Amino acid sequence: EKLCPGLSPGSGGGGGGFPSVRPRRLRQSPAMRRLVSEVRLNPADLVLPLFVKEDIPEARPIRSMPGVYQHSRDSLRRAAHEAVAAGVGGLMLFGVPTERDHCGTTDAVLNDSIADVIAEVGKDTVVMSDLCLDEFTDHGHCGILAADGSVDNDATLLRYAEMAVAQADAGAHVLGLSGMMDGQVGVVRAALDAAGHTNTVILAYAAKYASGFYGPFREAVESQLQGDRRTYQQDPANAAEALREVALDVAEGADIIMVKPALPYLDVLRQVADAVDVPVAAYQVSGEYAMVEAAAANGWINREQVMMETLIGARRAGADFVLTYWATEAAGYLD
Ligand code: PBG
Repeated sequence: EKLCPGLSPGSGGGGGGFPSVRPRRLRQSPAMRRLVSEVRLNPADLVLPLFVKEDIPEARPIRSMPGVYQHSRDSLRRAAHEAVAAGVGGLMLFGVPTERDHCGTTDAVLNDSIADVIAEVGKDTVVMSDLCLDEFTDHGHCGILAADGSVDNDATLLRYAEMAVAQADAGAHVLGLSGMMDGQVGVVRAALDAAGHTNTVILAYAAKYASGFYGPFREAVESQLQGDRRTYQQDPANAAEALREVALDVAEGADIIMVKPALPYLDVLRQVADAVDVPVAAYQVSGEYAMVEAAAANGWINREQVMMETLIGARRAGADFVLTYWATEAAGYLD
């Protein structure tokens, strides 16, 4: 090797102002770095969101999410098996109906796919379902609209209670309450318990921000939304508000708390993880995925390195597990 003039290897020798404390010692080899890593990522820390569309013969690609599909009943089963074989911790199901109405009553596609996935892999993994109305309403909001067009909190709670019981009847292990209505955890818990579903777990999207990062998801579920969700999802400027939301959800009986999106809200994730003693999840949402895929497709970043960096970043910030569209692939790199 060529040396710079006047320098030989180790010429500092530790004397004369050279450092005796050297953090680089612990970075000198992959084995040393592995030994001292503060957080780890295991396949079981990853949950795969899956979209299933009613009445399609085969899977359809989602343009803004390369590698992600609207699944048919058959391709959903295959994707579920693949994810389980890779060791993922769970699956999160979203339904895309052929018809929508004002009250979002066309959620049969989701309940049917829960039953399908439970029958296929229900003993091998945790099956979760999204509990929200936006995929099923013809106006695209997460709730029932009042006469003046605003989202009616308490009318929505009644629909959530019905949907929760239907999803639990279909066999879902965990319900992901993502609608951001006040009191939703308490009302859903009471409805589940009254129906005998005392073991159904509630994962509360306690701190869910009104985020531009949900853009590609709107294509994935063919959302009909006009306007925005700022009257129920949180303002990106607020972190203390997230702690209030989390405290309410825990008091109402949430078993697991989620922060969403992940990357722009790692500070919120850390504060939430420090504040509660229930498990904390993070959702790496569609726009986070699309952003990395787009930059990688242009050759601007190293796709796999950035994928794994974002996931370990969420773990380091306090997430016990992460919902990510890369779950199956990333789990494969961790073996
Ligand atoms: C609501 C829901 C949304 C997402 C998950 N659950 C959409 C929204 O709130 O606008 C977004 C997930 C993503 O962007 O990956 N059903």
